[in-house]
Amino acid sequence: MQKITIAIDGFSSTGKSTLAKQLAKALGYIYVDTGAMYRAITLFAMRNKFVGVEKENINALIKLLPKAKLKFVFNEQLGFAEMYLNGENVEKEIRSIEVSNQVSRVATIEEVRHKLVDMQKEMGKEKGIVMDGRDIGTVVFPDAELKIFMTASPETRAYRRYKELLDKGDKVTYKEVLKNIQNRDYVDSHREFSPLRRAEDAIEFDNSDMGMEEQFDRIYNHSLRVIEKQ
Ligand code: DC
Repeated sequence: MQKITIAIDGFSSTGKSTLAKQLAKALGYIYVDTGAMYRAITLFAMRNKFVGVEKENINALIKLLPKAKLKFVFNEQLGFAEMYLNGENVEKEIRSIEVSNQVSRVATIEEVRHKLVDMQKEMGKEKGIVMDGRDIGTVVFPDAELKIFMTASPETRAYRRYKELLDKGDKVTYKEVLKNIQNRDYVDSHREFSPLRRAEDAIEFDNSDMGMEEQFDRIYNHSLRVIEKQ
């Protein structure tokens, strides 16, 4: 069967990654979480003390970018790929609230976006890929056969994320998480380079009142129909 490219975009914590991961597994496709890449660069910046929007910080980070080597390594046990920064597994660190609070700013830097978008295009050359992010349907794969734009209310997303962080043992408050989500929504959709927006040919999918199973069934069946048409 012909392989296609599936681009999934949307706001933070809409459940994009969970859905994209399940979809890739069911179709036998590669899954790429591009948010993990922006998060890893943010961690790299924080470790080098370059965080902040001051010009000198940004310039210092841009200069050091070639030294940030990112790699996805498939974990057989977990069934998905984990993010490595310069040979170190950073899956846990990149999901922390500290990184979450900084990542949108780092993602506004044009040079960071160029570096990551080039890597993403390369990963999708052979098709058979499900990639999620903010600019996948608009910038990375404008010709993707299937584009999905996921939305849900900020409160629904904050509550889901809050529960996830509590389960992981992070000490956060719902208010803190909601504030982080609202800030990220704003920065992600107002930045100069590749702002978050729905591609004209993307299907919008609001999952505020939908369980994971129903979401998966709908998107999976739709994907099969698109694949059959190729
Ligand atoms: O999907 P996520 O919440 O893990 O993404 C983290 C941040 O990275 C998000 O605030 C915006 C940025 N991002 C981006 O600008 N472009 C992408 N393709 C993916 C993520």
